[in-house]
Amino acid sequence: MAPPLPRRICCIGAGYVGGPTMAVIADRCPDIAVTVVDLNAERIAAWNDPDLGRLPVYEPGLDAVVGRCRGRNLVFSTAVEDAIAAADMVFLSVNTPTKTRGLGAGQASDLKWVEASARTVAKAASGHTIVVEKSTLPVRTAEAVKAILGSGVAGKTFSVLSNPEFLAEGTAIRDLEDPDRVLIGGDDPDAIDVLAAIYAHWVPQDRILRTNLWSSELSKLTANAFLAQRISSINGIAAFCEVTGADVQEVARAIGADSRIGSKFLKAGPGFGGSCFQKDILNLVYLCRHYGLEEVAAYWEQVVALNTWQQHRIARLVVTRLFGTVTGKRLAILGFAFKADTNDTRESPAIRICRDLLEEGALLQIVDPKVREQQIQRDLGQPAGQGEGSWQLAPSVEQAAQGADALVLVTEWEQFGAIDWSAVVAVMRQPAWLFDARGSADEAAARAAGLSVWRVGQG
Ligand code: UDX
Ligand code: ADP
Repeated sequence: MAPPLPRRICCIGAGYVGGPTMAVIADRCPDIAVTVVDLNAERIAAWNDPDLGRLPVYEPGLDAVVGRCRGRNLVFSTAVEDAIAAADMVFLSVNTPTKTRGLGAGQASDLKWVEASARTVAKAASGHTIVVEKSTLPVRTAEAVKAILGSGVAGKTFSVLSNPEFLAEGTAIRDLEDPDRVLIGGDDPDAIDVLAAIYAHWVPQDRILRTNLWSSELSKLTANAFLAQRISSINGIAAFCEVTGADVQEVARAIGADSRIGSKFLKAGPGFGGSCFQKDILNLVYLCRHYGLEEVAAYWEQVVALNTWQQHRIARLVVTRLFGTVTGKRLAILGFAFKADTNDTRESPAIRICRDLLEEGALLQIVDPKVREQQIQRDLGQPAGQGEGSWQLAPSVEQAAQGADALVLVTEWEQFGAIDWSAVVAVMRQPAWLFDARGSADEAAARAAGLSVWRVGQG
């Protein structure tokens, strides 16, 4: 007999994970009513904005999915407790940033939002509720969630599942609609069946993996650690290529042709950003240390250390090539998001690179098609301004390049691949440089237009 489908689901947290994930579930399961709740009223208002171009998360294709479902079986609301009370299944999709103070500061995940949302579920739920961990969490968090839920009023029952989300920003809709796998961890086979039945609306059975709770939680941390490790590995080799005359793009192609290695995630760049990689590795490091596995902790810690080094290295070599000083010089920063096709700047390599250049007294002209000025202000810790050590947002590459000594390509936005180099060089101060930290610009065209070019990993 087919497992019963939940009629109403609720997702706590309308962020980069909760919003797109629930939109796709609502789209694929018209028979399920989906409510996404958040305490942040401004964020909910943006999800309800009639202008789909103003959703709080930018993801290609998201506007169309939300446009189809919103008001049909997808609701965004701040009425957290009402939505929980009405739901058969509640997803926890709240933020879990790295702790900034106290025990484990700088490494452990801060679980205060998970704890708060679990307490709200314990209070507001009615009858039997399946609680699904969607946020990436330290292994064994489900134990804490279960304990909190168990402390609620008698008569309420809960099953806790782990269902980590593997979507990458910028390709969230594609990743959700056609996932490599869906992972469900838990110890209640009935609850697992109910969640699997939701995904079965569009995901083939053989891609729905079932594990115990701890394996599911740990698989997410491990997947991110492995992916990040590949990036630090190739970035380390890129630096080595630069001093030996090898070319990292050729090396990546050569090693990626080995089917055991594979060709993905071998692109050298300014280091990884995003909300997950650094946070998850540091969390893994913290947990390994906690269990006395010092060598394992030190091994993974180095992946983050190399990433930080790569970002400082790029800022440093810009300064070095520009005759050892950028004080009072204009530099165009191409891209501020942590990667293309997202407005997210969390842990963006641009932040560290820009901060280093501001520290050196540069005048930065930042161009990014999706990131807003207030966000850059928060990330750089200073408002837009003028004079040494200042930044401004520029509306186009041409305008950013006015009077600049260099362009620093930090985010691989598609439009930076189609720059009219001659027009740009004409407004720059000579000798003019392109520092391509992504290896994504048309280098031959840039050189032909008269730019000196440094590209990551090119010896
Ligand atoms: C990542 C994981 O891919 C995803 O499965 C998980 O759910 C969340 O974390 P995300 O951070 O959105 O997703 O983006 P991803 O595409 O993985 O890129 C992460 C960072 O690595 C970006 O800064 C990107 O520019 C960088 N990167 C990626 C490289 O520098 N080189 C590569 O070859 C690939
Ligand atoms: P992610 O990238 O994991 O989706 P975000 O920070 O984008 O993370 O989104 C998490 C969302 O969760 C935020 O919008 C935040 O306001 C919301 N949130 C955190 N705690 C609670 C809570 N207890 N109740 C409702 N919403 C919450």
